[in-house]
Amino acid sequence: MARAKVQYICQNCGAAHTRWSGRCDACGEWNTLVEESDGTGIAAGPAARSRKGRIVEMQPLDGESEDAPRIKADVSELDRVTGGGFVPGSALLLGGDPGIGKSTLLMQASAALARNGNPVVYVSGEEAVAQVRLRAKRLGIGTSAADGTTVQLVAETNVENIVTTLEAGKAPALVVIDSIQTLWSETVESAPGTVSQVRTSAQAMIRYAKASGAAVVLVGHVTKEGQIAGPRVVEHMVDGVLYFEGEGGHHFRILRAVKNRFGPTDEIGVFEMGDRGLREVANPSELFLGERNRAAPGAAVFAGMEGRRPVLVEIQALVAPSSLGTPRRAVVGWDSSRLAMILAVLEAHCGVRLGGHDVYLNVAGGYRISEPAADLAVAAALVSSLANKPLRENGVYFGEVSLSGHLRPVSQAAGRLKEAAKLGFDNATFSSGGQKLSKPGLKANTIETLADMVVELVSPSDGGES
Ligand code: TYD
Ligand code: MG
Repeated sequence: MARAKVQYICQNCGAAHTRWSGRCDACGEWNTLVEESDGTGIAAGPAARSRKGRIVEMQPLDGESEDAPRIKADVSELDRVTGGGFVPGSALLLGGDPGIGKSTLLMQASAALARNGNPVVYVSGEEAVAQVRLRAKRLGIGTSAADGTTVQLVAETNVENIVTTLEAGKAPALVVIDSIQTLWSETVESAPGTVSQVRTSAQAMIRYAKASGAAVVLVGHVTKEGQIAGPRVVEHMVDGVLYFEGEGGHHFRILRAVKNRFGPTDEIGVFEMGDRGLREVANPSELFLGERNRAAPGAAVFAGMEGRRPVLVEIQALVAPSSLGTPRRAVVGWDSSRLAMILAVLEAHCGVRLGGHDVYLNVAGGYRISEPAADLAVAAALVSSLANKPLRENGVYFGEVSLSGHLRPVSQAAGRLKEAAKLGFDNATFSSGGQKLSKPGLKANTIETLADMVVELVSPSDGGES
């Protein structure tokens, strides 16, 4: 007789195992295997087979639907990243290292919402009501509107209690869960913070959001590897994932969208953490260029883009003779394999030998660049440091370097130039790809290859601070 086929499914990664074990071989999580029948053969059972679904309505794709309405938080850097405000009935996950300022950001946004007449419920699973109040007081934020709309605090971690409490009253505009890792459900036996608890709790809160039309923000702590601790599954369940990040020792913070079903994912919000909470930074270039060392060798200003917003940032390189067999390559704020590529192109096509040198590369201010357009600025900083010669004063650089040593034009050149001109730069080195830019606003120094840049920098007649 055929036996019911039983599988053990990892609740974290979904891998199927034929035998139970304490640890999933696929993802390495402990205690996540759960017995599930595979739904075929005898195990599926007559009940399962006879259940007939009901007919659901189909809709044409090109039918009319309204734009998602928005609840603006009045924290414009946050609204920019969410794509114009919180969407009612949606769920957002806000991830970040402990202590980065997630609670502070959400408390400030909650207070601003309440001041504009949107009721907010702030569920704190980590801090007691008194602590949250104290923080709000320290932030100096008035949290009540004239009509009595305010931020209601709840210190609770049981998800059934939270949902029942929320359902008892009128649905608020926003519910903040700080944090999802502290929630637990009675229907699951494992401890709070485990994969299944976090998943069940997140599901309950998302269901509440869809049913009530309240926007729900879940706070999640991030592990050392940079993932939202435990369940990556929560990332799939929610409508948007935002990361709040910053470098240790620097007091500015960047909010980034990595997933957004209602808006773009390439926008960033920039904040500065002060003694009275987070301050919005409307012009990030000024912050990143703040302590610029104008005439030092090894420093190049990169005209970057974050979404539709230009961000100018200084790239610093230090190239020094190495005493090591394998010279050191250290990078902060950029991709180290990208640096290896630039070094190889400089060596192969421009005759710049860096094989016997240690190379240190730093993006000023703790900012992190992900654009390949920074290639040219990095190369300029490296060559400038090696030659011990400062780059053109008041100049910016951008361009993607290909393996052949040619420069590729990058997107939104006009926007980059405009921002550079606005901040007082008077020349730009980049590749235009043969196109003519009308009115760049500063001296455009277009080049075709990386070698052009190197030649110009090291030749005594036309380089340097001429
Ligand atoms: P918090 O919002 O509690 O971080 P998270 O919720 O992400 O864990 O922020 C805590 C840090 O922020 C703490 O180290 C102190 C700092 N901070 C300030 O510098 N200024 C302030 O006004 C506040 C409220 C916090
Ligand atoms: Mg917190």
